[in-house]
This record gives sequence, C-alpha cells and structure tokens, in this order.
Amino acid sequence: MPTRPASVVRARRAAVAASVAVLGGCSAETSVLDAAGPNAERIAGVWWWLFWLAVVVYAIFLAAVLAAVTRRRSTTGEGTGNLPVILGGVVLPALVLPVVLFVNFGALSDIGGRPPGDALDVEVTGNRWWWEVTYPDLGIVTANEIHIPAGRPIAFEVTSDDVIHSLWIPELMGKIDLIPGKVNNHSLMSAEPGIYRAVCAEYCGLQHTKMQLRVIVDEPGEFDAWAAAMRRPAASPASQDGRRGLDVFLEAGCGSCHTIEGTPANGELGPALTHLARRRTLAAGTIPNTRGHLAGWILNPQSVKQGALMPPIKLLPEELHALLGYLEGLE
Ligand code: CUA
Repeated sequence: MPTRPASVVRARRAAVAASVAVLGGCSAETSVLDAAGPNAERIAGVWWWLFWLAVVVYAIFLAAVLAAVTRRRSTTGEGTGNLPVILGGVVLPALVLPVVLFVNFGALSDIGGRPPGDALDVEVTGNRWWWEVTYPDLGIVTANEIHIPAGRPIAFEVTSDDVIHSLWIPELMGKIDLIPGKVNNHSLMSAEPGIYRAVCAEYCGLQHTKMQLRVIVDEPGEFDAWAAAMRRPAASPASQDGRRGLDVFLEAGCGSCHTIEGTPANGELGPALTHLARRRTLAAGTIPNTRGHLAGWILNPQSVKQGALMPPIKLLPEELHALLGYLEGLE
C-alpha cells in the first residue's frame, strides 16, 4: 500500500485541527439565537436582519466580481468606466447603512429604559471580579446570582465600584455597561423559567473571563418563597460545631470583607454571604458551590482565580472543618 508523503499528512492534520477549532464555536454554551424572552427575541430578530442583509450584499459583490473577471475587455477601449466602483463603494453603502441604523435604533428604543407596568427593580454593581445584586424594594442583597420571576418585567439599574464591566445575558438581554459613577438602565420584559448563564462582556482585568453569574428565572410562587428566605437574617448555628465555625469566621477576619446578616460580620469589600449555601456557584460562577471547592477557595483563592482580591486563609484542619460546616448551614 503506498504511503502518503509526510507533508500531505501534516497538511491534513492541520486542516482537521482547524475545522475542529472553527466548528467548536458552533456549540456555544449560550447563544443570542436561543432567545427565551421578548427582549432577546427582538435582538435575535436584528441578528437575522443583519445576516440576510449581509448575504444580499455579499451576493451582489460576488456577482460584480464574477462579471469583472469574465467580461472581455472591450476591443474599442470603451468600458463602463468608474460605474461599478461608484455603485459598490458609494451607492450600496449609502443604501445599506441607513437600513442597519434604522433596524438597530428600532430595537434599542423597544428594549431600553424602564419597562412599563409593575416592574421589579434589580440593582447590579460590578466589582473585580464579582457582581453585587440588590433588590431595593425587597431588602435583599446577594451576589453572583440574579433570581427573577417569570413573566414580570424587570428594571435593571447597573453601576460599577471600580472599572467598566458589562452585564450580558445572551438568551435574555443585550449587553449593558456598568460604569463607575454612572447608573445605566435596562429592561427585561419577561423571561421563561430556567437557569441562564450571564457573563461580563467588557474586558476588566485578569479574571474578566471568570466574572460570570447565573440568572435563575423562577415561577412567581418559587420566586416569592426565595425572596422570603433571603429576607431572613442568617440562621444561627444550632450545633457546637457550627458556633465554632462562626467564631473561626470572625477570628480569621472574614467579617471585615463579608457581611452575614445577624452576626458582627458587616464587611462590604466582598460578596454578602448571609445565604451562601443557597447559591449554585462560588467565585462568580467559576466553581460549583460544593464543600471541596469551598475549602479550596478559602485556603488558596489564587489557585482558582489568579489575581482575586480574597486573601488565602490559613486554618488548622479542625478550624476549616468547623468553618465549612457553618458556611454550609447558611441557607
Ligand atoms: Cu468585569 Cu469583564
């Protein structure tokens, strides 16, 4: 059997590797085209508008190039002059760009500003590299997870405590910038129940890609139950081990950065931990909220999120065990 030259084998391997890399982008975890609410459907509509417009423009250009390649040079020396250049370079953009502008402005006016009716206010503040989430009318402060009720409009007010971030929930809502010293508004008309991934869409430093959050759209009854639980102060530790865990938390100085309602811990530099055990992830969507990951995060945050502002906490095994038990009880 004849063997193929090494250069051919290398070229084929490179082609396979390139296709895997390119096609890998087709299986994104989240996509604006998987719209789960009217805002996202409006944005997906703009996407399709621009896509088909680009297809038409591309087809016109391709036809012009083919015509130019196949056209015989006129024997008389008389051609069409600069007409193709004028059509392709001036007339076509002059027709297309206003259409793009009109389609975009139409969508922006539909989804921007405060939604009509009985909207739920949700304030989101960006920090390196986590999100503070506040419900001013409900008296709830949490982090890295936004619960909203299905079917109800949401009025987002966003800002930043340090640098510019951008909140993007691809399946529910377009991007909105979180700018220090400025409050931006955005609305979400309604959404279907489910768990949606959201990301920071503005480069904000070392851990920009690990600044994620989960948006959980609950049925209205589930949301009310969640809000009622979140309004309560932290559960007092029932066991001796739990009380020891709270002591470890306070002695290690965790309370100077984190708040746990109902305890002396009232720091505001890091996420509120009052109901930490109810959250699905740790370190802003980076790792699942399990005992093992929580232990690793406390002992060595840099191994999970290099550059994270949380310092490593040195603990004896007995202290760590008690602390984990206490934190896991913060329902
Ligand atoms: Cu925050 Cu990128």
